[in-house]
Amino acid sequence: MTIKELVIKNRSYRRFHESESISLETLRELVDLARLSASGANMQPLKYILSCDPEKNALIFPTLAWAGYLKDWPGPVEGERPSAYIIILGDKRIRQSFGVDPGIASQSILLGATEKGFGGCIIASIKKEVLAEALKIPEELEILLALALGKPKERVVIDPVGPDGDIKYWREADGTHHVPKRPLDEIIIG
Ligand SMILES: Cc1cc2nc3c(=O)[nH]c(=O)nc-3n(C[C@H](O)[C@H](O)[C@H](O)COP(=O)(O)O)c2cc1C
Repeated sequence: MTIKELVIKNRSYRRFHESESISLETLRELVDLARLSASGANMQPLKYILSCDPEKNALIFPTLAWAGYLKDWPGPVEGERPSAYIIILGDKRIRQSFGVDPGIASQSILLGATEKGFGGCIIASIKKEVLAEALKIPEELEILLALALGKPKERVVIDPVGPDGDIKYWREADGTHHVPKRPLDEIIIG
């Protein structure tokens, strides 16, 4: 796959074949991609919690909010939930703010997951206090993002943003998920 093919395939997937597990070793390989990625001032303040067993996954799932634009969809049903998660934390003993490091780490991890035939979704909408309590995360570690991972069970297609300018993703009756993207000539402004 070229980098462009990989980037196009790396969509946000929110429904998975939950029975297709992801090993701890695979999650470690994905975090290694984040470890090797850029970090502001090379401070490397990010820490990670890995989850690929059903019990731990069940603690994480209820703390996440899915697809805000799909008002009638409360999130994936049992059997279509992620089979793994990577929780990205900021170590406040190293830095007080984490800039774009978690975004860069997320993209590296998701590109790696896509290359391996998996897919996922970055989730920032997290009940952080509930998750910290459930996973016994110490106070010095700030929850930044959760990456939901699994074998995608949905088709996601990219469309050009229409003349009405609406950027909201939407789903067809057959479940196909559409993601409007703005044209290149609109975003390169000089
Ligand atoms: C920083 C960030 C936070 C996000 N948070 C959520 C979230 O809380 N819940 C969710 O379902 N999707 C979340 N997403 C996924 C976006 O909705 C998704 O990237 C967007 O709809 C475009 O789709 P695409 O990733 O397939 O291009 C987040 C994405 C980013 C980059």
